[in-house]
Amino acid sequence: MSKIMDTYARQPVTFVKGEGVWLWAKDGKKYLDALSGVAVNGLGHTHPKLIKAINEQISRLIHVSNVYCITEQEKLAEKLTAISGMESVFFCNSGCEANEAAIKLARLYGHQNGIDTPEIIVMEKAFHGRTMATLSATGNRKAQAGFEPLVGGFIRVAFDDLEAIQQIALRKNNVVAILLETIQGEGGINIPINLQDYLKGLREICDQHNWLLILDEVQSGIARTGKWFAHQHTSIQPDVMTIAKGLGSGVPIGACLAKGVASHVFTPGKHGSTFGGNPLATAAGYATLKIIEEDKLCSHASKMGILINEEFTRHLRDFSQVKVIRNSGLMVGIEFDQPCGELTRLALDEGILINVTADKVIRLLPPLVISEAEVKELAERLSQVIKNYLAK
Ligand SMILES: Cc1ncc(COP(=O)(O)O)c(C=O)c1O
Repeated sequence: MSKIMDTYARQPVTFVKGEGVWLWAKDGKKYLDALSGVAVNGLGHTHPKLIKAINEQISRLIHVSNVYCITEQEKLAEKLTAISGMESVFFCNSGCEANEAAIKLARLYGHQNGIDTPEIIVMEKAFHGRTMATLSATGNRKAQAGFEPLVGGFIRVAFDDLEAIQQIALRKNNVVAILLETIQGEGGINIPINLQDYLKGLREICDQHNWLLILDEVQSGIARTGKWFAHQHTSIQPDVMTIAKGLGSGVPIGACLAKGVASHVFTPGKHGSTFGGNPLATAAGYATLKIIEEDKLCSHASKMGILINEEFTRHLRDFSQVKVIRNSGLMVGIEFDQPCGELTRLALDEGILINVTADKVIRLLPPLVISEAEVKELAERLSQVIKNYLAK
């Protein structure tokens, strides 16, 4: 019996090494990684420039407390604010912690403005993490069940529905923020019908009522959709943005970025983290961003995203059970008209790592470095797995 707590229904495979989009298991079998540790290994596995940067940092300094100044953290904050247009950064260790920081920031902003019971608007099908506050903000009853009482102060509306938010604005005077994923990941790769119009509408409502617009880019950020951050496909800027996953290429790191009034809400003692932003994590983050820039991975992800959609469409267009193939860069969803959870295991057997989310959606988040030939191989081999499954 494993001594690991039973929080994951694990696939029966143990990986021992990786290179690029490929992983090797203990028994020598080779796998095509189309999940990237759920949007973490954007640079693929063991990218030589990343290994070099991490090794250099480890041999110099791994950790010092946030009660001291940290050069690597300053450097990464400079870079992140430059690529995002945000103004300040709080570093933590994960996506849920980044969202916790954003939720605390929004509540504090409310209190500073005379709102004693601040509420945050959140979305159906959202996923923001597993801590109590982020689980409460998450729009998935299955994930919440058994953990009641949930944290209060969240109002839920449908995703991509401006009217629902306008209705709340009419009847509530204690709202302080809207929190949403720019593109929903766990919820099934849900892309607003018109991202520009939706975010513009949200921005206008927030400006009108002095609410903060908080974008969770934990999954959609760090070049995943072909831009540094998914909202950069529009002209809209958030007040607060959370990131994690791909930022450290596997070295745990998260960040909550803020701009304008939101940038000045936290003061010493209001929030903190022992490990958040330590020299190792921030050096990994900085190296990741530099490599993405040097290797032009934003435009590459964008091109590979178009190709992946074309390839899967070509292979699967005759199958009526495949409802839609949607993507933004390398954030890809293949939606079926029926639950298809079994496909994760069937693909694994064929040496391909995928994930099924929202019961009916194959989610693909391949490394940003995936080549044209590897995209074609992935589409051909996975489509064959899908065809065999549908033929049963
Ligand atoms: C959009 C989004 N937000 C937050 C999280 C939570 O991140 P973490 O697991 O690093 O706490 C996730 C994780 O899947 C996510 O996809």
